[in-house]
Amino acid sequence: MVGVGIAVGRRAPQEEGHVQIQNLIDGAWVGASDSSSLRVVNPARDEVIAEVPSVGVAETRSAIDAAWRARVAWASRTAGERGDLLSALAGLMHRDADRLAALMTSEQGKPLAEARGEIAYAASFLSWAAEEGKRLTGDIIPASAPDKRILVLRQPVGVTAIITPWNFPAAMITRKLGPALAAGCTVVIKPSELTPLSALAIGELACEAGIPDGVVNIITGEAGAIGDVLFDDDRVRKLSFTGSTRVGQMLMSKASKNLLRLSLELGGHAPFLVFDDADIGQAVGAAIACKFRNAGQTCICANRFYVQDGVYDEFAARFAEAIENLTVGDGAREGVQVGPLINDAAVEKVESHVADARSHGAKVTVGGKRVHPKGLADRFYAPTLIKGMTPDMVLAREETFGPVAPVARFTEEREAIELANASEYGLAAYFFTRDASRLMRVAEALEYGIVGANDGGPSTAQAPFGGVKHSGFGREGGRYAMDEYSEIKYISWQL
Ligand code: SIN
Repeated sequence: MVGVGIAVGRRAPQEEGHVQIQNLIDGAWVGASDSSSLRVVNPARDEVIAEVPSVGVAETRSAIDAAWRARVAWASRTAGERGDLLSALAGLMHRDADRLAALMTSEQGKPLAEARGEIAYAASFLSWAAEEGKRLTGDIIPASAPDKRILVLRQPVGVTAIITPWNFPAAMITRKLGPALAAGCTVVIKPSELTPLSALAIGELACEAGIPDGVVNIITGEAGAIGDVLFDDDRVRKLSFTGSTRVGQMLMSKASKNLLRLSLELGGHAPFLVFDDADIGQAVGAAIACKFRNAGQTCICANRFYVQDGVYDEFAARFAEAIENLTVGDGAREGVQVGPLINDAAVEKVESHVADARSHGAKVTVGGKRVHPKGLADRFYAPTLIKGMTPDMVLAREETFGPVAPVARFTEEREAIELANASEYGLAAYFFTRDASRLMRVAEALEYGIVGANDGGPSTAQAPFGGVKHSGFGREGGRYAMDEYSEIKYISWQL
């Protein structure tokens, strides 16, 4: 275990075994002023692997001060200069991909192969934003008077608070950090208290890349203490949050005080439709990737499967076989495909959803219980297939956030769309068909921000990621992300 007391250099070397455990404020690595700390636990082994500062009012204010002081100089740099620094950071993440992936697996639990994939995915948001910042153009609009000109500029929103979840400890940071920095904003990042080490490692690389002091600040601690300061200080102009709908609603009401601009990427409850004319092999492959990635702890994971009568038996049989073949274990072991859930509460939630489904008459045909890999914590849940899902079951309405795939039948296309849309969430939906006209019809009818049409993995840096309804608003990724971090200024120029 590494403790908060260990001194680390301002520009720490990438030595073997080095883990950054201090907070980054104004280019310096610091602990909590009262030495409070948070334990970081490896969920697969239930072992404390590090302690990081648990900061409060004073440190949060210092981080905001630093971001405030740095903002004018950062915004004054050219987009090309900011882009070069973001590209340098992306390059360092690729250089250190193995180290960062191992760190992520140790604090989050996901299999190493997925963690490596996430590091590449995380770096891609920086590389994309590095280029996209150069295209943050304005307009010159024909005026209504001959002696006037109308100019429209894009300017950075200003100091931005970034609050990120534990399920993607690197990518959820860079998906916000990239466009924020590219647009000329400075940031205060508060990563999840469950997975702060990946964030601090990225902070270290940001220093090594040469991103100026104060532009990126990272503080760790309890959300309440930090959040209250962020919401109270009107130098903070924007909050970008990924997390649950419940917390998003609370943050939105707190953000009203200073009328913060908001991007909220909240919960999901993705339907996955398989039509009679689908390529079943393709649908099963996508269902496995989409459902069991990160042990089902993904906002865009398929949560409920609806399969048309004609292919129901074939799909269910092939899906069951593929689920049975998944390897569960410590994500640090090569070849493991499904790691632990993040904590005890997560396992209990999955258990309660499965128990509720059973009590409403569902049949658990694969899994349906905890598994106990030798020498590991009691946090592993077997990849599970449930047949006979009905709308009154909790898992048909709420995000399970675990490796459970409930399946139901449908007969008509219209019925499938109604079932899919009967949710308060609207993040991602998936469907499989080989009929081109159905493809467009269904894609348009689904009330979701992201639709995977014959695709179980739509996430990519150049595309807009975000939801509708209770899944939040704002878009991350692609050129759309730049809108979230820039203000429009209109200059009316009389000649
Ligand atoms: C999420 O769970 O919100 C992130 C998933 C992704 O980026 O694909």
